[in-house]
Amino acid sequence: MQNVERKNMENDLMDKIVSLCKRRGFIFPGSEIYGGLANSWDYGPLGVELKNTIKQMWWDRFVRSRSDVFGIDAALLMNSKVWEASGHLGAGFADELVECKKCHQRFRFDELGEISDFRFQISDLNQNQKCPECGGELTTPRKFNLMLKTFLGPAEEKANEVYFRPETAQAMFVNFKNVLDTMRPKLPFGIAQTGKAFRNEITPGNFIFRMREFEQMEIEYFVREEEWKDRFDHWQDEIKRWIGDLGVDLAHVHEIDIPDGERAHYSKRTMDFEYDFPFGRKELYGLAYRTDFDLRNHEKASGKNLKYRDPDTNEEFWPHVIEPTWGVDRSALAVLLDTYRETGEGKDKRVYLKLPPKLAPYQVAVFPLLANKPQLVEKAQGIYNKLRVTSYELRVTTDMRGNIGKRYYAQDEIGTPWCVTVDFQTLEDDTVTVRDRDTAEQIRKSIADLDAYFGEMV
Ligand code: GAP
Repeated sequence: MQNVERKNMENDLMDKIVSLCKRRGFIFPGSEIYGGLANSWDYGPLGVELKNTIKQMWWDRFVRSRSDVFGIDAALLMNSKVWEASGHLGAGFADELVECKKCHQRFRFDELGEISDFRFQISDLNQNQKCPECGGELTTPRKFNLMLKTFLGPAEEKANEVYFRPETAQAMFVNFKNVLDTMRPKLPFGIAQTGKAFRNEITPGNFIFRMREFEQMEIEYFVREEEWKDRFDHWQDEIKRWIGDLGVDLAHVHEIDIPDGERAHYSKRTMDFEYDFPFGRKELYGLAYRTDFDLRNHEKASGKNLKYRDPDTNEEFWPHVIEPTWGVDRSALAVLLDTYRETGEGKDKRVYLKLPPKLAPYQVAVFPLLANKPQLVEKAQGIYNKLRVTSYELRVTTDMRGNIGKRYYAQDEIGTPWCVTVDFQTLEDDTVTVRDRDTAEQIRKSIADLDAYFGEMV
């Protein structure tokens, strides 16, 4: 979409997306019938299709179709020693929390004022900073660790404390030796995982942008130290290619090299991929050069040899790591925001999601022109049944309610690229209309050709 058009829409774009997601079954407020649970969200029938398709697309591209990346699926709860060694239980994984002395609202210190994205030090405190809600005086920032704690077993005592993982990454380091011993890969190679992560965020919000429970897709790519720059460039290109394939306009994405002093404790180079969200330019994905920080520390803490042995020279060393990381929920949000379209005025106004066909929850909708004509309904049902079993697993839906205009409107709003309509001519010559979501134009196609036609289009 043109930037100007987008700007005009931005003020209420988030509200429109949140409302569309609820109305059409993409995303619901969590625990809604009990008044909700702040900032928790449940994916509905269409949302889970979108999310699962994103994850599957990622897995196919970065694991299945590559011979140098191996997948794992590790436990959410890990031995607390993992988090001590990784640094997550220390100051490096803490945000600075300030509280208003008057209204007692709590804020992430780095989100106050002009500087919004980078974590910075207590010494940077602007003493004149006031509460953005009531203007009251703020407390001095104090470190607040983001790890989410729980207890294993019946006794809630220190010995039983465990933490939900705050990133999927550490399981890849902890299983480095297992993958090495079983798959026998040669450098460079990667270990990949998708799954839930938990952070006790001080200020979750902006719908599914920042949650306490979210999903990540991560790769730890192990390389020789001397080749880290080339591999970093490779993953930078891969991330950009991925964003384009999601249907997100790269003009809305900005690559930011994070300067010294503002990177995570483990990183020698970090690049954030920021997206123009309606609430500001914020991190969508990240790419980090983690050096050998993690393997070195886990070896030290566990006492287990986590080195790679070069098969030619027998030399042993800790490989260095390039880590591309993707948020699943932020991917879904960027896709929804970036593909949302409004065209026309008044009664001609049309809203649609210009989702790439491979991402659309349904790729084709089949219906009769009139829902009260049994012959049309039966014919539509037959086409629907046939298209559901194509060799390329087309995602098909049908809708027998309301009038045809309303059905088109509903399919446009959920991003279904094509609608097939059975009309009276169908009964005579076995042809149907195929309507294109983006142009609303219709062409006539023979029923016998639909399978091959959609196969090619998808
Ligand atoms: N292993 C590195 C790591 O976890 P991160 O930048 O903290 O790096 C990676 O997180 C990605 O996870 C982010 O780029 C973002 O897409 C997603 N993410 C992080 N925190 C999130 C949250 N609270 N809610 C939703 N997504 C989040």
